[in-house]
Amino acid sequence: MNEQFLIRDDQPMPPAGEVVTTSSRRERSYSIHVTADEDSALQTLTDAIGGRQVSVVTDHIVDNLHAARIAAALTSRGVPVRSMAVPAGEQSKSLQMACRLLDWLARSDAGRRDVLLAIGGGVVIDTAGWVASAYMRGIPYINVPTTLLAQVDAAIGGKVAVDHWIAKNLIGSFYEPEAVVSCVGYLATLDARQVRAGLAEVIKKAIIASPPLFSFIERHLGPLLALDPAALRSLVHAASSIKCVLVARDPYETDLRRTLNFGHTVGHAVETATGHGPVLHGEAVACGMAVATRIACARGLLGGQTAARIVGLLGAAGLPLSLSELALEPPAGDVIAALAKIRQVRAGSLRFVLPTELGSALIADDVTEDEICAALYDRAMTAVAGGPGQFSTVAGGPGQFSTVAGGPGQFSTVAGGPGQFSGVRA
Ligand SMILES: NC(=O)c1ccc[n+]([C@@H]2O[C@H](COP(=O)([O-])OP(=O)(O)OC[C@H]3O[C@@H](n4cnc5c(N)ncnc54)[C@H](O)[C@@H]3O)[C@@H](O)[C@H]2O)c1
Ligand SMILES: [Zn+2]
Repeated sequence: MNEQFLIRDDQPMPPAGEVVTTSSRRERSYSIHVTADEDSALQTLTDAIGGRQVSVVTDHIVDNLHAARIAAALTSRGVPVRSMAVPAGEQSKSLQMACRLLDWLARSDAGRRDVLLAIGGGVVIDTAGWVASAYMRGIPYINVPTTLLAQVDAAIGGKVAVDHWIAKNLIGSFYEPEAVVSCVGYLATLDARQVRAGLAEVIKKAIIASPPLFSFIERHLGPLLALDPAALRSLVHAASSIKCVLVARDPYETDLRRTLNFGHTVGHAVETATGHGPVLHGEAVACGMAVATRIACARGLLGGQTAARIVGLLGAAGLPLSLSELALEPPAGDVIAALAKIRQVRAGSLRFVLPTELGSALIADDVTEDEICAALYDRAMTAVAGGPGQFSTVAGGPGQFSTVAGGPGQFSTVAGGPGQFSGVRA
């Protein structure tokens, strides 16, 4: 049926010389659905797609393991699907690959009403999200993260980017997905090392923002590493919810004092000193968290028992706690040199997030080279993780959650635009 619209407008002439102001950000909320089984994921996905055409972007490994099956299931549900798989790995997160994807979308007549579906790890999600932000000035996209890191981190927050040879994530924007569907069942095919690296980013969130999540990981570490679906679902749900709260406080990262950077100062230096590759990001961050924890403890900011719990949990999760435990051990001098470079880029300031107790941290920019060197190797606190439940009844601020593994079904949480949560990121 043809519809006709008559639009009538009668805007007044504005007074001459007056400043014109406009609202430039169109914020909206989106849902993050965490499921344990593929059937619920597919149902949620079909509902979110809502009859639109779908362009799937994935990588070759994920295509073979999951994405081709997901595409076929959507097709059988009547959703029109076209797919493109890129080679797996960080090298696909490039402007050249983004151009190939844009070319593919244009040639296949993808329209503004179509939806892009990113199925894969952080590489696919960052690249596809950036392509979605650029194609026709922005088309909707939905994330189906398939690594633990992507489910708890990359798929949430709308930071989309490709790498440039000068720096990682140099070309990007903030462009939020329309929905995120995290099925923990997809993690069953993931390499154990990738699982541990993803877990490092969850432990980070627990240390800076959620004592109950920390206790949960301590109590369920065995099932989590064995990829128990109920334990994973609780973990991904909680981590997603906490990330949403922390991101919503400062969605465009205007405040540099982000506790989310815990472990990342030394972590980035380790990645630089090892040439971005042999050491996974989560492993470098774990080492960075152990170093920052030791510095906090040596300064008397953090009690020995809590420090032992933090380092103990990282160690029990099989994560590296010092340079000598990394897959490739960089000379300490190279790490210090990389830190000096970071300090130079940041106008002389090297910020460390130092935990003061579970759920609270201090941002310090006066940490000395001697303190860092002492903490890079110190193994004194590699103690066994403390008993569970110590913090189980902390009063709920934003980010509190239930650690009880739910029955069948699915969790969902809503990521808000700014203003939904008050407060300033510490
Ligand atoms: N946008 C953000 O906020 C944000 C946050 C954190 C990280 N990142 C980015 O994420 C990227 C790293 O993400 P990643 O660790 O997911 O890496 P990745 O996407 O390269 O995935 C790691 C490997 O696992 C494979 N894989 C994915 N899912 C699998 C599955 N279910 N089973 C078996 N293999 C599977 C992939 O093919 C790849 O080989 C980096 O580029 C980083 O910059 C972005
Ligand atoms: Zn990180």
